[in-house]
Formats: sequence, C-alpha cells, structure tokens
Amino acid sequence: MQEKINKIRLEAEKELQDANEERQVENIRVLYLGKKGKITTLLKGLKDIPQEERPLVGGLANQLKQDLEQGIAEAIKRFIRKNQEERLAQERIDVTLPGRRISLGAKHPVSQITERVVEIFTSLGFSLAQGPEVELDYYNFEALNIPKHHPARDMHDTFYISDEVLLRTHTSPVQIRVMEKQPPPVRIICLGKVYRRDSDISHTPMFHQVEGLLVDEQVSFGDLKGVLTAFIHQMFAPDTLVRFRPSFFPFTEPSAEVDIQCVMCKGKGCRVCSQSGWLEILGSGMVNPAVFRMVGYDPENVTGFAFGVGIERIAMLKFGIDDIRLFFENDLRFLRQF
Ligand code: PHE
Repeated sequence: MQEKINKIRLEAEKELQDANEERQVENIRVLYLGKKGKITTLLKGLKDIPQEERPLVGGLANQLKQDLEQGIAEAIKRFIRKNQEERLAQERIDVTLPGRRISLGAKHPVSQITERVVEIFTSLGFSLAQGPEVELDYYNFEALNIPKHHPARDMHDTFYISDEVLLRTHTSPVQIRVMEKQPPPVRIICLGKVYRRDSDISHTPMFHQVEGLLVDEQVSFGDLKGVLTAFIHQMFAPDTLVRFRPSFFPFTEPSAEVDIQCVMCKGKGCRVCSQSGWLEILGSGMVNPAVFRMVGYDPENVTGFAFGVGIERIAMLKFGIDDIRLFFENDLRFLRQF
C-alpha cells in the first residue's frame, strides 16, 4: 500500500513538472483529486485495509493529497505569472522612441506688446475701455475739435464708408464716448485697431493704438509727464531718456510729442533715428477745453491729459524690426522668432 502511494506521488510530481499549460495542470487535478481521481479512490479505499495499518497509510495518503493540492496551486500561480510576463513583454513601450511633437504656437509680437502696455497702465490705475472700429464722423473728428473741412483731417487719410460713417483713424473717439457716459474723474486706456489709407515701410492700412485719458480736478502737465515717463521706463529701460517736444493736435492744448533716446544707438545717431539720437513714440497733450464742452464737462472744474501710442511702433523698437508690414504678412519664419 505504501508503495502504491509512493508511486502515485512520483507519477503526479513528474506530470506536474512536465505540464507546460494551465489546462494540463487542471487535467492533473481531475486525474488525481477529482471525484474518481486516483487519490480520491485511494482515500475511499482506506476503510478496506486492516485496522492497524490504517493510521500510517491514511496519514501518507492525506499528506500526498495536501502536497499535490499545494503543488497544483503553485503551478497555476506560475502560469499566471508567466502569462503576465508574456503580455507585458508584448505590450512593452520603448520609452527611448522619439515622442509625437505637439507644435505650440506663440504670441504674436503685437499681442505681446499690447499685453505689456495694458499691464503697465492698469498697474498705474487705468482701466480698460472699448469702442467701435466702424465709427461716426462725429466721434472720430467733430467731437475732438476737428470740424468738417478742417485741415487737420488731412493728417488722417480716412477710409470713409459714407459721409457720416468711417473706419476710426485713431482710438481717441473712445475718450468722447466714455466722457459722454460718465462724469469725471476718468482714468481709462482704450486699445484696438485703427485704419488709415497708407502703406509703406512704416505704415499699414490697419495698425493698433492705445489711447489714454485721465480727467480730474487739477490734473497738470506734470502729471502727464510723470505718467508717460513711468510708462516708458517700464516699457523700455528705467534709464531711458525721455523728451517732450511741442506739437499740435486739435483735441489737446498744449500738445507734446514724446521722444525716447534711440534704443538702437543709445543716442549717438544712426539710420533708425535719422542720426538725431531720438525716436518719436507717442502723441499727447492736455485735453482741449473745447472737447470738455462737447461732452458736457466744465473746463473750469476739471482738467485732463490724453495720449496715443502706436503698438507696432513700440514693437518695432523693442524687437529691432525695420519694416512694419512684417507684422501682418504672417510669415512663419518671422513669427517663429518671437
Ligand atoms: N490720436 C492721436 C493720433 O492718432 C494721438 C493722440 C492721442 C495725441 C491723444 C494726443 C492725445 O495721432
């Protein structure tokens, strides 16, 4: 009997060892431990052997049953692991392969400068105002103290849509719209597209302006100089020299054009500044009392200043670009440089 048990054990162990599929292990289980399996039959037959042999043989048979159960469980575990490893090997990702490139766009230089200008003026307490690009003659000219047939209109090369409707030639009409709607004080900037019939190395039919307006009691030319100097120092460099030069705009009096020391030659004189050492960057002035009267403000009580900055002009100086038309050609070789 003992011999028979040993034989079954050896047989089962060999079969388990030879199994190389999970299905075979299952067959072994049925063959030995199933209802009619060899070990099951052996255990059932215990009752037929002599009383005194029973404990020994029973012990051996039970031990065999346990060992085989354990062996089968381990074999199954082995196959599960093997399957997993095979799957992992198949699904392996080669992390050294080059990835798929996501090509990111970048901000257009005009947007970059616009954002910076807004940042500087909002930090100085100005808030953003908006107005239409298709504008009435009244807001673009008349309310700004430029009556019909006034020679100052010649400066503007206007796109007219009809006698009374045009594409705004500057952002100044937004001043009027804001002052019409609210009493002083006012502290706004307005930015957006403006249009003029002009095209060459320094002009495009559409470009961007930022207009600023500050109105309050006792605003002085000194405030204008302070705010614009602070703007220039933040936009360019803190040591940039600034010069205020008398000028004329119908809507401001007195008026000043603002020059900065040439950013290319630092004032020595070069092609960009036509050897003058200075670059004009914006127009400004104290709001003309005639404009205040147009919007119902009392020029005896309030004063104010206004200024207009060309965004492309600043971008050209900041980035060293010598042809304004490059901004609007959308040539990727140009745009990728920003
Ligand atoms: N609107 C003027 C222009 O486009 C600029 C300007 C604005 C000048 C405000 C003075 C005050 O030329």
